[in-house]
Amino acid sequence: MKVLVIGAGGREHAIVDALSRSSKVSKIYCAPGNAGIALQAECVPIKDTDVPALLAFARSEGLDLTVVGPEAALSAGVTDAFRAAGLRIFGHTKAATRIESSKEFAKELMAKYGIPTAAYRSFSDYEPALDYVLSRPFPAVLKYDGLAAGKGVVIASDGDEARTALASMLLDHRFGQGRVVVEDYLTGPEFSFMAFVDGERVYPMPLSQDHKRAFDGDKGPNTGGMGAYTGLPFITPEDEQFALHQILEKAAAGMVAEGCPLSGVLYGGLMKTPDGVKVIEFNARFGDPETEVVLPLLESDITDIFCAVADGRPAEAPVWCDEVTMGVVMASKGYPGSYEKGFAIDIPADMSGVCLYQMGTAVKDGRLVTAGGRVLMPVCKGADLSEARTRVYEAVSQIRCENLFYRSDIAHQAL
Ligand code: AMP
Ligand code: GLY
Repeated sequence: MKVLVIGAGGREHAIVDALSRSSKVSKIYCAPGNAGIALQAECVPIKDTDVPALLAFARSEGLDLTVVGPEAALSAGVTDAFRAAGLRIFGHTKAATRIESSKEFAKELMAKYGIPTAAYRSFSDYEPALDYVLSRPFPAVLKYDGLAAGKGVVIASDGDEARTALASMLLDHRFGQGRVVVEDYLTGPEFSFMAFVDGERVYPMPLSQDHKRAFDGDKGPNTGGMGAYTGLPFITPEDEQFALHQILEKAAAGMVAEGCPLSGVLYGGLMKTPDGVKVIEFNARFGDPETEVVLPLLESDITDIFCAVADGRPAEAPVWCDEVTMGVVMASKGYPGSYEKGFAIDIPADMSGVCLYQMGTAVKDGRLVTAGGRVLMPVCKGADLSEARTRVYEAVSQIRCENLFYRSDIAHQAL
């Protein structure tokens, strides 16, 4: 099979890596890819949202399968265009991607199909939104309804913070013309539950946990994710079964009933609250950096599940190994704010036992250099988390670059 992966980050590197383990795959392309992905795939300089160019490439190369990483490509309608052209693609239609791209759509789906989540109301005008917020207990959770690159959620601790946030979203239209969802504040550990979904068929992946804040102790600004691991001791098998049946399967069935069936990855951003597991958000794609710790555990051939979901036929459940994984993101100093690029990275020749996923790298004058906010993510397996941790921080210590920082407490809730 000739396969194309769309995207350019660590998530796409992990997908390419999983595809490279398949005996059925003869050629992997990645659009646009990065310097690390280029070690395992041929990178083609096409933007992830340039649907006509992606389609033309898939046709001219006679591709057997395309796998979509980023939500931007799904929201741009890449799946709809490929399907209309009779090309096989793994990823949701634009209509199904609304489970991520519209918070209000997701909230209505959960209300209609009895999926546990925080109580909410949605507003398009500033005054009624503020009146509602002021009538409820603080903190208040304010979510811009649309894609806002992870910056559209504000946890307001008092009326002044709520006024400022609502004014920027509903009066100044900082992110666009969208509405705002106001929801109750929930507490408890967060975790990520991803599954391959084809209509009502749901094939769960191992649970994982991301670390959204930039610094140790969950301090500092929100980022795209600073590290992740699998093997969560605080989520019981009962919690997992509940989340599978009452959340993921109900969402999948609900999307079928709404006429926009899922056909790709459903990502539940979940919280174990004192009242049980509830949904914080749904995403319509693989999580990043969760994918980098989950896919190394896949023992079966990833093309089997990709092709079955893309074709809309039943698959054998993927097989996962029972080890655990941990990954540490190495990011440019200054990230998630402004940062400089172009710093040389030295990686030892022998990194055996490490999946070294590259997130934001480039090659300049024959040298590997930093080229993004999140730059590298070494991932290691272990029989348990302390073994995985020892190995992954050993790998981190061997990578030399003067402009990178990382968290030293990944999995602190578990260890
Ligand atoms: P989201 O983009 O919806 O995942 O929100 C980003 C982050 O805000 C989440 O990872 C949570 O840490 C936090 N958050 C979102 N909704 C809530 C909520 N209802 N209660 C508490 N924290 C929340
Ligand atoms: N790790 C969070 C996300 O992929 O949205």
